[in-house]
Amino acid sequence: RGAPPTVIVIFGASGDLTSRKLIPALYNLGLDNLLPRDFHLIGYGRKPIPDEDFRNDSEAALKEFSRRPLSDELWKHLRPNISYHAGGYDDLKAFESLREKLLAIEKEVGRDVQFLFYISTPPSVFKPILENLGASGLAKHGEESDLASKVIIEKPFGRDLATAQELNTIITNEFDEKQVYRIDHYLGKETVQDLMVLRFANSIFEPLWNRNYVECVQITVAENLGVGTRGGYYDQSGATRDMLQNHTMQLLALTAMEPPVSLSAEDIRDEKVKLLKAIQPMKTGPDGDVVRAQYGEGLIDGERVPAYMQEKDIPATSCTETFAALRMSIDNWRWQGVPFYLRSGKRLARRVSEIAIQFKQASGSLFSDPARFDLASNTLVIQIQPDEGVTLLMNSKIPGLETRTQPVKMHFRYATTFGSNTPEAYERLILDAMVGDSTLFIRGDETETSWKLYTPILDHWAECGRKGLDSYTSGSWGPLAADRLLWEGKHEWRRAG
Ligand code: BG6
Repeated sequence: RGAPPTVIVIFGASGDLTSRKLIPALYNLGLDNLLPRDFHLIGYGRKPIPDEDFRNDSEAALKEFSRRPLSDELWKHLRPNISYHAGGYDDLKAFESLREKLLAIEKEVGRDVQFLFYISTPPSVFKPILENLGASGLAKHGEESDLASKVIIEKPFGRDLATAQELNTIITNEFDEKQVYRIDHYLGKETVQDLMVLRFANSIFEPLWNRNYVECVQITVAENLGVGTRGGYYDQSGATRDMLQNHTMQLLALTAMEPPVSLSAEDIRDEKVKLLKAIQPMKTGPDGDVVRAQYGEGLIDGERVPAYMQEKDIPATSCTETFAALRMSIDNWRWQGVPFYLRSGKRLARRVSEIAIQFKQASGSLFSDPARFDLASNTLVIQIQPDEGVTLLMNSKIPGLETRTQPVKMHFRYATTFGSNTPEAYERLILDAMVGDSTLFIRGDETETSWKLYTPILDHWAECGRKGLDSYTSGSWGPLAADRLLWEGKHEWRRAG
């Protein structure tokens, strides 16, 4: 997949994401010969940094975070094409001089070059950056050729429906929707991309993938890390805004959507939006569909860790949830009556993201004596991370002279079959943006549809403050209240991982 000559400008170049993910991703694309021959990277930030220092910082980032070691040959070629541009985000003059720089590169290359603007800053400066890209003429660059500028934006895409709509308006005032690439890095994960292949390239699953055979679906995105040094950001966000509204909803949409008519970006995204629209509003309140909680202290890997309220930069009045669990119903032909349970949180027992499709119990009473037959529901588990793979839980006879049964697992592990050096999510996503494939990016109406579901819940929680906010021990699987969500359906959370 050949990308055209490209200059990537990263706004927020001195941020964590740039050094941990973006620079290593670009470099690894280079190692796979997937960067165009004419490739330039410009870091943009408020702090003045000499080009040479930015190059040295990039080299240090690669040594620390690249999944493959630094190759002198490639680095010698890339290094001179990396530079830095200092300027305020609301400083139109700095954008005009950035434009001069970009046009000079295009002139030197001697043919059309695409400009790719990567916004990896706090959301408070999205607006001035987008407006200045418009005012400086950069947003319209290359419009007449087929190399129109593109903009990649990191979440959060708003913090509720109104702010998401406002952001979409600002974006589309300056760019056409087809120039816009909203990143959700979960879509770049191999296992998430495999969801469509698993569902639609295997004939055995599709006939079962509906309310006739599926008992419930459980999606878990659990982390054992706490908020660490990100307290300032996280306390404004919480588990629902940080993980559920975006990453977890993407997993849900790909699991539950109808087959798209083609693999084109628009067809797939149309199906995701249709699915999101079929999700019923969730009820709040004591017997509702939503639970939120904050971690208390506890043990993680044998080490005592502090409660959320004791973490750095968390205000004493914080009512931010570090865990949320939801029960959703999807009102369409395929899923009517099948509960979807979603949970995500920090400081849980272990880091694991998985989608579990639990099938209905086998009918008949042949093996119904619990004293003799230990039976589990057939469950297909798509393990997103770590230990990527797919597991089918089924029941088997225990070898021996008596007929006794036991649940067993059939495993497919990516690492065993394909080796473990798979590309990182950001490699795939940056390459897709460079070549103009928006399939794995979020469309504006997708974020708005998702926010429509979450906004009433978040508003309700904001009104309640700490009232109704549960707590859980660090290192556990969350509060007891999360189990309650499943009782009505006579279900239990799986032991994930
Ligand atoms: C980010 C969140 O989007 O995703 C973080 O802001 C979270 O809080 C991270 O830790 C999880 O990503 P991954 O790829 O490690 O599961």
